[in-house]
Amino acid sequence: MVARRVGEVEISGIRRMFEAARPSSINLGLGEPDFNPPADVVRAYTEAVQNGANHYGPTAGLAELRDRVAELYRDRLASTGRENVVITSGGTEALMATAFALYDPGDEVLVPDPGFVLYAPHARLAGAHPIPYPLEEDDGFVPRIEEIESRITPRTTAIVVNSPSNPTGGVFPRATIEAIVQIAERHDLAIVSDEVYDRITYETPATSFWGRSSRAVIINSFSKTFAATGWRLGFVVASPELLSAIGKIHYHIMACPSTPAQRAVLKGLESDLSATRRMAREFRARRDLVMREFETIPGMHCTTPRGAFYVFPRFDWEETSSQAAMGLLDAGLITTPGDAFGSRGQRHLRISFAASRENLVRGLAILRRYAERRTSRRSAGRGEGPASTSR
Ligand SMILES: Cc1ncc(COP(=O)(O)O)c(C=O)c1O
Repeated sequence: MVARRVGEVEISGIRRMFEAARPSSINLGLGEPDFNPPADVVRAYTEAVQNGANHYGPTAGLAELRDRVAELYRDRLASTGRENVVITSGGTEALMATAFALYDPGDEVLVPDPGFVLYAPHARLAGAHPIPYPLEEDDGFVPRIEEIESRITPRTTAIVVNSPSNPTGGVFPRATIEAIVQIAERHDLAIVSDEVYDRITYETPATSFWGRSSRAVIINSFSKTFAATGWRLGFVVASPELLSAIGKIHYHIMACPSTPAQRAVLKGLESDLSATRRMAREFRARRDLVMREFETIPGMHCTTPRGAFYVFPRFDWEETSSQAAMGLLDAGLITTPGDAFGSRGQRHLRISFAASRENLVRGLAILRRYAERRTSRRSAGRGEGPASTSR
């Protein structure tokens, strides 16, 4: 009775870990800020509900909110207006509507590996083939242009990019963005740029793909910016031509985005986003704490994230990511296995620092003990005769 396409996708490995966890576990698997939305934004939500904003709104979102979002992108392209913006139910629906609007059955879509868990499944649900391009630790998880270009065929329709990245924390330098735009122009590809962490960077501000090419479709979200993941509100910024296609699919998925949530984020966008900046400063302090802890964890290597709120360390003992994540779960720590993000995530764990400093210290102590056991077992194994010879 179930359609074949259902067999093409799985529920993400991230959610499975939570289902297996004990309530007392320390949770470093979180994909959301551990803050509340700013108080005035919460107040605007409740006032909206009390004052009757409980009904359907326009499919593309409230005109005032689309105008305000367009303003945020005007420094990149002065002509950006409401006709470039559709408000969606989070980045998730924005990605899904984009996939269904841009990918035909049989198309190839380039996706990062490791990369966020929705890109490949959305391509498959649209009948397209996700083609992973590698992100290397040694490159700070910034893609090499030749690795992308060598995977382009006549069937390639789009390239999905994500900076700042979940799960790696990688942030693209401007030169990479410009080079990706050039190959998209040369090979007639759409660029689907997931920029949901654009306000959470540590060294340099994130650079948007907007305004560099009419092929760019920007996916963004209020989930992380306002620590409001449960409100389910995001948006797409694109050329009117692409947006009218994406908006059609959006209508069929959603009818319209949540009316009170739009009223609330509109209030949030009236301010100077200082609450978001404060949150990003705290994430930076936690990132530094996490990186200091990793210096003393044996058998693990951790690249410094430049944005988002994840580290993506690699371990060098013999175990799969899922085995390590399950072993840690038994020891009371929730992490996310790196292979949930693609085959290149094997031997990595994703650790979120959207958790209190206290829980980070306690959680990383569990990780340290686990790593010590694994690495000491390995060095003991080396001394055990034939099995430990160079073969
Ligand atoms: C890279 C990335 N894109 C998109 C999303 C979707 O976010 P939402 O649907 O809450 O806006 C997430 C959520 O974790 C994410 O990490």
